[in-house]
Amino acid sequence: MSDAYDNIIVETRGAAALRFGWITLNRPKALNALNDALMDELGRALLSFDADDSIGCIVVTGSEKAFAAGADIAMMKPNDFPSAYMKGLISRNWDTIRQVRKPVIAAVAGFALGGGCEVAMACDMIIAADTAKFGQPEIKLGIIPGAGGTQRLPRAVGKAKAFDLVVTGRMMDAAEAERSGLVARVVAADQLHAEAESAANAICGYSLPSIIASKECINRAYEAPLSEGLLFERRLFHALFSTVDQKEGMGAFLEKRKPDFKQG
Ligand code: CAA
Repeated sequence: MSDAYDNIIVETRGAAALRFGWITLNRPKALNALNDALMDELGRALLSFDADDSIGCIVVTGSEKAFAAGADIAMMKPNDFPSAYMKGLISRNWDTIRQVRKPVIAAVAGFALGGGCEVAMACDMIIAADTAKFGQPEIKLGIIPGAGGTQRLPRAVGKAKAFDLVVTGRMMDAAEAERSGLVARVVAADQLHAEAESAANAICGYSLPSIIASKECINRAYEAPLSEGLLFERRLFHALFSTVDQKEGMGAFLEKRKPDFKQG
């Protein structure tokens, strides 16, 4: 499979022991509208970073004007039910992100609409520029969100606001998105990349087994009843006592020095 990308830019960045992947969605003329070619490439880049032992996490970002303005409407329009169903429109390549075990940070400026908002929500955390605008405007096209908008948005912002956004198609700005819990941090637009890099560097400075365990446990909070989630957390908490990094982290604290994690 080719390493060449036409619709995204793929870089490796970082200053910590582990480095991080940096993926820029790059279809500027279509405001990063998400077509199959772009989503295939995004999935390929995510899986490649996930498999790379020198990488601790991944940042996905767009342009100043748009993280992504949704699934590509021109690509979707010709479909009827049989073709959409049989090809799995907005399915195979959109679901790849769920296979990624390392943290994925969405760094969002400008429009994150429809599928763009859904890709951001499929990431593990969103850092937004104060220019970011989030929305699920599919209702205006005679459809509904198809990549998690009706499921992840209520979990993030509650039913009332999710319903409002999905059935009116209105956009919410970064401040409202942060107030309602969709976004972890909001920063000035010119600080977005620095903030995402700082978060990624922090993650890359820790022990990857405990980072991945954190992600698995937090995701479990959305999939399992509380008692099962608590048990899952306790089991992974216990399991981490078998790592050299637990010995190193606790030893370094008690010896008042910086830990040197070995990722194992
Ligand atoms: N698909 C395809 N092309 C898109 C697009 C999309 N989702 N969003 C923008 N574009 C294209 C425009 O057609 C335009 O192309 P041309 O220059 O060739 O005409 C170019 O990007 C620039 O867009 P605008 O001229 O419209 O820019 P604007 O600044 O005036 O408006 C906007 C920006 C408000 C984001 C507007 O482009 C817009 O409303 N886009 C569509 C948003 C949308 O409906 N998203 C949901 C898609 S459905 C979906 O995502 C389903 C799902 O759940 C998976």
